[in-house]
Amino acid sequence: MIKPDAVENGHIGAILDKITAAGFKIVAMKYTQLSKRDAEIFYAIHKERPFFGELVEFMTRGPIVAAILEKDNAVDDFRALIGATNPEEAAEGTIRKLYAASIGENAVHGSDSDENAAIEGAFHFSGREIY
Ligand code: RTP
Ligand code: MG
Repeated sequence: MIKPDAVENGHIGAILDKITAAGFKIVAMKYTQLSKRDAEIFYAIHKERPFFGELVEFMTRGPIVAAILEKDNAVDDFRALIGATNPEEAAEGTIRKLYAASIGENAVHGSDSDENAAIEGAFHFSGREIY
């Protein structure tokens, strides 16, 4: 996902450009807004964390871009492309270093495993929206 902060700041195009330049194939994509319930389900793994309320508030405050990306070694390569959760710790040239403001508002989401990528892809897209 391209998160609400990056959408608000006009970075959709630049982020998609970096993603495609890094060799990812976009197999599904949509512009949409998460409801509170959507965000609570999507980030359910973090529901006991102190930042959960803030995270749900942030992720629902405006539209996002959801996409399914394909590449060999996609999960690890995408996390390398986006950089550390905290943009202050993200490597130079990474998407979070370039476009994120804080650990909470960090521009992009990446799946953390192939298994979660499949779950998250099915959360956003029906079979006929995946090419
Ligand atoms: P994501 O799931 O969004 O790709 O991010 P991530 O794996 O790098 O980080 P994760 O630990 O899964 O945290 C999910 C999101 O929660 C927000 N967060 N806020 N205020 C805080 O201390 C804090 N820590 C995490 C961020 O939006 C983070 O991306
Ligand atoms: Mg995560």
